[in-house]
Amino acid sequence: MRVLLTGGTGMVGRNIKEHENARHYDVLTPSRKELDLTSRKQIRIYLETNSPEYIIHAAGLVGGIHANIANPSRFLIENLEIGCNLISEAAKIGVKNIINLGSSCMYPKNGPNPLKEEYLLNGLLEPTNEGYAIAKIAAQRLCDYLRIEDNSRNYVTLMPCNLYGKYDNYNPERSHLIASIIVKLHDAKINNKNSVEIWGDGKVRREFMYAKDFADAVWFVLPMISQLPHIINVGTGKDYSIFDYYKKVSEILGFEGAFTFNLRKPTGMKQKLLDVKKINDLGWLPQNSLGSGIKKTYSHYLNCLA
Ligand SMILES: NC(=O)c1ccc[n+]([C@@H]2O[C@H](COP(=O)([O-])OP(=O)(O)OC[C@H]3O[C@@H](n4cnc5c(N)ncnc54)[C@H](OP(=O)(O)O)[C@@H]3O)[C@@H](O)[C@H]2O)c1
Repeated sequence: MRVLLTGGTGMVGRNIKEHENARHYDVLTPSRKELDLTSRKQIRIYLETNSPEYIIHAAGLVGGIHANIANPSRFLIENLEIGCNLISEAAKIGVKNIINLGSSCMYPKNGPNPLKEEYLLNGLLEPTNEGYAIAKIAAQRLCDYLRIEDNSRNYVTLMPCNLYGKYDNYNPERSHLIASIIVKLHDAKINNKNSVEIWGDGKVRREFMYAKDFADAVWFVLPMISQLPHIINVGTGKDYSIFDYYKKVSEILGFEGAFTFNLRKPTGMKQKLLDVKKINDLGWLPQNSLGSGIKKTYSHYLNCLA
């Protein structure tokens, strides 16, 4: 069975592509050069030529809080174009199965935790990533509208918590929390720095999952796509404070210095813990503990430096 995986050069896409279950499918992973998702015309020609039975949509403009604050218009426009172009062209061509990747950023900033799927659009969004979240919400709603218009379309949105792992982005302008902690603490350790700065007071809480586990969830749900609810959270069900993540990475890297807190820096939502009952009830659980995921990610980072 043929699967079009978008975003196959990104962290999530690469983990999906190299997961052992990918070998049961003919997985197409066009680069952006081969298929620019901001172009409807390119999408139409690609879908007509390759006729995928499934699409796993893991492409998007993604960045940490820094990048989102600096460029909200670009995060809105590009993600809106990418999501709406791909999903609507797929529907026109007759693709019946889409796994669209959402994000926990799409939930209201004051939603009660753990965040249930039905809280979507129930309140204001976190301003630091509002543009990105609006674009991702539009893609999810489009999946729903197309499914309502034709119930033979199995268009499902998976809502991952924050992800980290192999192929993470270590560029400080674009990195997410765990990759940026690894870079900062590794640098502090090898340069004998006495302290490392944390943005905010370290009390904000986040849920992080090893990206290979998310890839596992994608391949787990794909064969049952026609029986799935239209939105499913995918997470570990546990969150930790930012300071806990710094302490955990310090332990693994052997950084023994102190931490300072920069209270002038933005920190985003106070808590973003997903309710994972739906995916757990389907029989899926993540395999990697936080410690084992961070160890593997650090070793990947060291390989990238070598
Ligand atoms: N990382 C997380 O913590 C996280 C959490 C929740 C949800 N997600 C979702 O997972 C998806 C992938 O995230 P990621 O972390 O893997 O991001 P990433 O590493 O930045 O990868 C993004 C991918 O999208 C591709 N892309 C961007 N614009 C494109 C375009 N116009 N045409 C074709 N391809 C394009 C990129 O191609 P190039 O290599 O050419 O740039 C890359 O392959 C996103 O939808 C994101 O919202 C991620």
